[in-house]
Amino acid sequence: MDVYQRILNIALPPLVWLTVFVMLPWLFAFRAFHFVVKRTLWYENVSGKVVVITGASSGIGEHLTYEYARRRARLAIAARREDRLQCVAAKARQLGSPDVIFIRTDVSKFEDCRKLIQETVDHFGRLDHLVNNAGITKLSWFEDCTPVSEFQNLMNINFWGAAYCTQFAVPHLRRTRGKIVAISSVSGRMASPKMGFYSASKSAMISLFEGLRVEVGSEIGITIVTPGLITSEMTEAEEVQAEPFVKFIPPETPGTCAKAIVNGVCRGDRYLTEPSWMRMFYLLKFACPEVMELCNQLIIANLNGKKVA
Ligand SMILES: *[C@@H]1O[C@H](CO)[C@@H](O)[C@H](O)[C@H]1NC(C)=O
Repeated sequence: MDVYQRILNIALPPLVWLTVFVMLPWLFAFRAFHFVVKRTLWYENVSGKVVVITGASSGIGEHLTYEYARRRARLAIAARREDRLQCVAAKARQLGSPDVIFIRTDVSKFEDCRKLIQETVDHFGRLDHLVNNAGITKLSWFEDCTPVSEFQNLMNINFWGAAYCTQFAVPHLRRTRGKIVAISSVSGRMASPKMGFYSASKSAMISLFEGLRVEVGSEIGITIVTPGLITSEMTEAEEVQAEPFVKFIPPETPGTCAKAIVNGVCRGDRYLTEPSWMRMFYLLKFACPEVMELCNQLIIANLNGKKVA
């Protein structure tokens, strides 16, 4: 049987390269057409639609709430801090949302996620968008990642929280041909030092939603968002500010980021990196992974004064 593997190893690469080159012009033509249609005919008017946003008490989630509110969507916002949610809800009403409810939710708890979706549907009678935004970060050298339970909690919020909410929301979203937004991270595509568990949780999200996208077909649109460095409570934390890479990357404001995200979701984008220049990192990583790794190592070695093996 291994002879088949040998034949495929030799024959498949040239065949695939050839096919890609032949298809490329058609693909670009299709994309250009798609680009125009998405921005005009297919652009979604979210006025009156029902949107659930997790992690809405600060950062990107808070600003996504305001951006949807400006477009007159009805909102159910969720987070752990009820006092903050109350302020965000009040501002969202001022900005134009006809109806905002807030539900105290710890997305790492299965039962909380069930309650969030159920209460939303009970109140509004439908669900159009689910925005899986809640997330935390914790930086540490892999060998110092103890107790491990703290990093399990990171996975429970960033990955399992999105999975739970999505599982409860999918039946309702099928009914409205709705949308799911997965807020992952540029780190989900490019692991960097001290961010192993964070990157892993964000890559896990990307894989989960790419798989789901195939399963739900055209019934539910899925936008996978990979934000770069965005000013928020999460990135303003001392441990993040002390990181060398932060010194090289100008942060984007959460307002600008949220506007780009909702715009991308209304267009029906499958992927969105914000700011978009960060996509160049993916190209570099694909074309010359050794160079990316070396840069990472040099940055750490120079700025932290730490010995890197
Ligand atoms: C969006 O829909 C609302 C009501 O469904 C309508 O009043 C509004 O004019 C629409 N906006 C646009 C830009 O089409």
